[in-house]
Amino acid sequence: MDVNGISALVTGAGSGLGAATARALAKAGAKVALLDINLTTSAEVAGEIGGVAIQCDVSDGPNVEAAFQDARDVHGAARIVVSCAGIAPSARIVGRDGPHDLESFTRAIQINLIGTFNIMRLAAADMQTLEVLETGERVLIVNTASIAGF
Ligand SMILES: NC(=O)c1ccc[n+]([C@@H]2O[C@H](COP(=O)([O-])OP(=O)(O)OC[C@H]3O[C@@H](n4cnc5c(N)ncnc54)[C@H](O)[C@@H]3O)[C@@H](O)[C@H]2O)c1
Repeated sequence: MDVNGISALVTGAGSGLGAATARALAKAGAKVALLDINLTTSAEVAGEIGGVAIQCDVSDGPNVEAAFQDARDVHGAARIVVSCAGIAPSARIVGRDGPHDLESFTRAIQINLIGTFNIMRLAAADMQTLEVLETGERVLIVNTASIAGF
């Protein structure tokens, strides 16, 4: 997709994969909204690339709806959504100190799985309203995952 002038949302954009994706999209001419739970880091990246930083917890329904509304108000409905927000509590199912902590596993599922689904469902609802571009392309949702899942 030619992303020049296209509105894009990137979650987890304050660091790592999300920040790199936001930078790459902006370099290619996209209007980028950077969604992250950490507004300090995402605002730094946004300042650097001319994007807009919006604080948002991807696992929270109303929070993401409000963040999407803020992004839409500035850049219009997004044709590109990339989910990079996530956490990686690395622990074995049974380690030296005993079994994996259930609370940290629950939190990882809440953010990495439910958060990603939350972003997809709300992005898709917005994207339904967008017409096909002259190139024949319409919208794009990209989710990141870990090979550790396999
Ligand atoms: N970096 C890798 O090589 C790699 C490989 C496989 C999988 N992953 C996974 O991809 C995701 C991103 O990796 P990364 O290296 O960029 O991590 P990172 O820690 O550098 O960045 C993750 C970003 O997500 C944000 N975030 C965390 N919880 C959030 C929430 N609830 N709502 C909104 N934002 C939230 C953080 O503030 C941070 O800015 C992680 O889930 C990671 O496990 C990374």
